[in-house]
Amino acid sequence: MTTTPGRAPVEADIERVLVSADAIARRVAELAEELGRGLATDGADDEGIVLMPVMTGSMLFVSDLVRQLPHKLRLELALVSSYPGTAQQSQGAKLTMPLPTGLEGRHIVLVDDILDSGGTIRFLQKELAKQAPASLRTIVLLRKPRPDAADVPCEHVGFEIPDEFVVGYGLDFDGLYRNLPYIGTLRPKSAE
Ligand code: IMP
Ligand code: MG
Repeated sequence: MTTTPGRAPVEADIERVLVSADAIARRVAELAEELGRGLATDGADDEGIVLMPVMTGSMLFVSDLVRQLPHKLRLELALVSSYPGTAQQSQGAKLTMPLPTGLEGRHIVLVDDILDSGGTIRFLQKELAKQAPASLRTIVLLRKPRPDAADVPCEHVGFEIPDEFVVGYGLDFDGLYRNLPYIGTLRPKSAE
């Protein structure tokens, strides 16, 4: 293990912090309010709300978000793999477990860490629509300025970030760095 004096091992490969832990916490609180207003306009009753985090990247985001929501809601997971291992370009979204069923008439909120090419969200929105939910909205913590992502309906976006590969707060490279409390870029050698 190589460590830089004064830095935690998980931080040693980080080049730059893009979004601090404090900024994330402040924005998550705002997003919870926004989402609450959105659900009210959808006519969502508490019994019908299903939050569906896209695993594994949105694990930290959804756990902070749900604790700011006053609603009675259910959590159902979407297990998807699009960046296996060390790939930095999406390899196409694949379900690694069948999607939850019985969503007819529910108010679904799809929660993801980042909208990059938009392939994952587009795929999940199409699949979920087949179950005739009462409403379907999407919330992502981060969005990159990719032209193909711009066409994907996404009602709530935490931060617009530059088109760079990022890790932390749930986002990984080869399974690592999810436990960083902030979003940052990797030093080039770590991403090779
Ligand atoms: P998309 O299908 O290209 O929009 O990619 C979405 C998924 O790829 C996200 O749910 C992330 O898990 C992953 N991803 C996209 N960009 C990054 C990144 O910069 N760092 C880490 N994971 C990413
Ligand atoms: Mg993901």
